[in-house]
Amino acid sequence: MGKKRTPSSKRWLAEHEADHYVQEARRLGYRSRAVFKLKEIQERDRILKPGLTVVDLGAAPGGWSQYARPLLGAGGRLVALDILPMEPLPKVEFICGDFREDSVLHQLEALAPERSVDLVLSDMSPNISGIEVADQAAGVYLAELALEFAGKRLKPGGGLLVKMFQGDGFEGYVKELRGRFGVVHIRKPKASRPRSPEVYLLARNHAVL
Ligand SMILES: C[S@@+](CC[C@H](N)C(=O)[O-])C[C@H]1O[C@@H](n2cnc3c(N)ncnc32)[C@H](O)[C@@H]1O
Repeated sequence: MGKKRTPSSKRWLAEHEADHYVQEARRLGYRSRAVFKLKEIQERDRILKPGLTVVDLGAAPGGWSQYARPLLGAGGRLVALDILPMEPLPKVEFICGDFREDSVLHQLEALAPERSVDLVLSDMSPNISGIEVADQAAGVYLAELALEFAGKRLKPGGGLLVKMFQGDGFEGYVKELRGRFGVVHIRKPKASRPRSPEVYLLARNHAVL
C-alpha cells in the first residue's frame, strides 16, 4: 500500500499535474520538467557542444542527461551521479551514491580525472525538511561541494552550471565563483517556479590557479 497523502502533498500533486512543463515533458518523452530549465539556458548560453566531457550531479530521474547527451555527439562523454537510482540512458555513465561521501567522490574522480572535464552541471537539491535554516544550509553545502569538485576536475576555461538557493550564503558563493571564473551569470529559467528561491549560476572560463 502507498503512503497516505496529506492535504499539502495532494495540493502539490494537483499543481504538478496541471503544470504546463510537466505536460510538455510527458508529451516529448522527457523524464522531468527540470529539462526545460537546462534547455532554456542552453538556448541562450550554448554551454553544451559536440565533443565535450560533462558531469551531471544530481541527475535522477535523468531529464538533464537525456537532453544533454545527444548534444555532445560521438566524441563527447557524460558521467551522471545521483543518490537515487536512475534508469539507464544510452551512452551515459552513471554512479549511484551520495556526493557528500568520500567513497562516492572517489568513484567519480576515477571516471573524471583531474583537468579532464569541460562542464560540471549540478541540479542537486537536498531533501526539504521544512526547517528553513537547515534546508538553506544543506543546499549551499551541496553547491559548495560541486564547486570544490569543479575546481579540481575542470579544464582551464571550463564551466559550471549550479543550482543555488537565494538566502544565507548566496552572496558569498557568488563572490567565490567570481574569483575563480572569468564570468558569472545568474539565470532564473521560466520553468523554475517563481516562488522557489532557486536560481542557476552559470560560471564560465574557469581559471586554473
Ligand atoms: C531536482 S532533482 C534533479 C533533476 C534532474 N536534473 C533531471 O532533470 O531529471 C535533484 C536531485 O538531486 C539529488 N541529490 C540530492 N542530494 C544528493 C546527494 N547528496 N548526492 C547525490 N545526489 C543528490 C536528488 O536525489 C535528486 O534526484
